[in-house]
Amino acid sequence: MCLPKRNRHESGKTMLDTKKIRKDFKILNRKIWAGKTLVYFDNAATTQKPQVVIDSLVNYYENYNANIHRGVHKLAEEATEAYEKVREKVRDFVGATKNDEVIFTRNTTESINLLAYSLGESLEEGDEVLISEMEHHSNIIPWYLLRDRKKITVKFIPITKNYELDYSALEKLINKKTKIISITHKSNVLGTVNDIKRIAQIAKNNGSILIIDAAQSVPHMKVDFQDLGCDFLVFSSHKMCGPTGVGVLVGKKELLEKMPPFLGGGEMIRKVTFEGFTPNDVPWKFEAGTPNIADVIAFGTAIDYIESLGIENIYKYECGLTEYCLSKLKQFDFLKIYNSSGTGIVTFSNPLVHPHDIATIVDQYGVAIRAGHHCAQPLMKRLNVSATARASFYFYNTKEEIDLFIEALKKAFDYFKVGACKKLNPVGG
Ligand code: ALA
Repeated sequence: MCLPKRNRHESGKTMLDTKKIRKDFKILNRKIWAGKTLVYFDNAATTQKPQVVIDSLVNYYENYNANIHRGVHKLAEEATEAYEKVREKVRDFVGATKNDEVIFTRNTTESINLLAYSLGESLEEGDEVLISEMEHHSNIIPWYLLRDRKKITVKFIPITKNYELDYSALEKLINKKTKIISITHKSNVLGTVNDIKRIAQIAKNNGSILIIDAAQSVPHMKVDFQDLGCDFLVFSSHKMCGPTGVGVLVGKKELLEKMPPFLGGGEMIRKVTFEGFTPNDVPWKFEAGTPNIADVIAFGTAIDYIESLGIENIYKYECGLTEYCLSKLKQFDFLKIYNSSGTGIVTFSNPLVHPHDIATIVDQYGVAIRAGHHCAQPLMKRLNVSATARASFYFYNTKEEIDLFIEALKKAFDYFKVGACKKLNPVGG
């Protein structure tokens, strides 16, 4: 599908035409409660879908629904071609070298579980896996499961008082037993963007495999698999305008070839006998059973859509929104704000009001934010809180929406009479 390039301003300066973009998302006109139009600031959880993505799903089911890689009939061929074309799009979007370095899973969580299981097979008792204190549960639990299966050790790289990764602690923690480092590119709570090239160099010098959880970065900034220098990169379709139920695992082919399959069944085999089986080549070795065909195809449309806007434009635009929001939040000097270099994510709390109460009140004004532990309970412990409130943006959000959010927050803080507690402890304090 060819979408118009909408990222060029007449003067040659690149910018996004948000007014025009918003017309592609009907849901953004939805009235939430009496007369309050939706302000959707929960994009780190999942993003909204443009009409072209929804149409792409309908088009598949209406016109060429068939199982792939199996049939010789026309529908099966069309569906197979459309599905495999998305592999190419993903390859190009994140700078992988080959189609067979791209594997479709159900979500980022499944991609990490696949790695923990299959890579984990080669680990031995006493080996170590390094993750960080800012990981989502999806990059903690699979390693705990492996720890319990293989008697390995899982260690956490700490964060600094500025909510950044402590690189000097990483250098001290890494050792010859460190077989895998698995780390987020961009924290779903702090918005911190980690220096993956720096970590890749440290991992390479030590002979460790490096896995990057890019669920929060790939949708928002230019991510180049080869340039980052990692071994594996994982992310999800639904956080970048695509459907739910599609995850991606990009990996170096020579490593994927050595790894045992994760799930067994149809499609992942070359041959099955009464005695055993021979696995298929990568990537199909890791795609057992009928895949999520319609959603993968619609994910391809989402990539086209994002490319029509320009990922660099999206990044710059979201930086502007984040700065604007942070500047407006300053008026609430009783709030603790947990952000460093992040783009697109603003997280805050106050001990006098539970984040769920803040989220419930702003919801009455149509503003959707997330409150809770954000699937990062160890990080919450590190921050000395049980929960925080989080606003997260995407390219269809506007400064006017941030103004509405700030007004809604004022109402919430007035209601709970927050404002007395001025000085709050820094991280770990
Ligand atoms: N990982 C998603 C979030 O941070 C669900 O909200």
